[in-house]
Amino acid sequence: LQIHTISHRGQIINQPLRDAWAVVIDILRFTTTVSTALCSGALRVYPAGDEDEARSMAKKLSLEGECLLCGEVDGLPLPGFDLGNSPLEYTPENVNGKTIVTMTTNGTGTIRMCRPAARILAGGFVNVSALVHHIIASDPSNLYLVCSGQRDSFCLEDYAFAGYLARQLFQHSDSRVMASPETLAACRVMGDYEGDTLGVMRDCSHGKYLSSIGFAADQEACAQIDVLDVVPRVEGGYLIAEPPISNENERPESTA
Ligand code: MLT
Repeated sequence: LQIHTISHRGQIINQPLRDAWAVVIDILRFTTTVSTALCSGALRVYPAGDEDEARSMAKKLSLEGECLLCGEVDGLPLPGFDLGNSPLEYTPENVNGKTIVTMTTNGTGTIRMCRPAARILAGGFVNVSALVHHIIASDPSNLYLVCSGQRDSFCLEDYAFAGYLARQLFQHSDSRVMASPETLAACRVMGDYEGDTLGVMRDCSHGKYLSSIGFAADQEACAQIDVLDVVPRVEGGYLIAEPPISNENERPESTA
């Protein structure tokens, strides 16, 4: 297993994703939120390219069954949207049995930019062991950890999680794991936090911004480790939940 890390989505364009796997990372908050939504019973999540597409797609899908129009711009829900992009909104009461159409500043676009990849997964601290188990079980040759970043710039929380996930894969994979220099650097960044995921959320600029607009609780929610047993995977343009892990004993325990 060769692990590559893309530090923000502006760098995806020239990466050889074809035939490789991609894990899209947008810790604050899209990939934490989509993992929560699928665990809360959402049927599928459509990552829209822009607001117009989100509105038209939600209208179209509403003809097939209950559909929620969700997402944010600059962290805040758009007018007339059913939900914003806080994971705390995606409760079973709100999303169980429904299709979700969502549009966010970075995460949804990053998912769409990874289309050439053989398999696209998504997640964060909340479902890290489920991701590790899924990756180890299939043992792809090349794995790209794709940090969304913020508006095509580096962001600490995504990069730190890439390091956390890579460290887990080093620890639990039976096959030989090699890492790119960017991946090794990400491992060092996370190592420096010694598992203090909330410290990462408090240090990063988007975490501070979200707190300043009233979403301080999202820092804690996105810092939780292994609270969701779900692997969001892109299938036919939608994010769906991989079947839950069959044997709890096989799950690698999450450690710092
Ligand atoms: C993103 O897509 O960049 C984030 O999810 C934005 C946010 O929810 O604050």
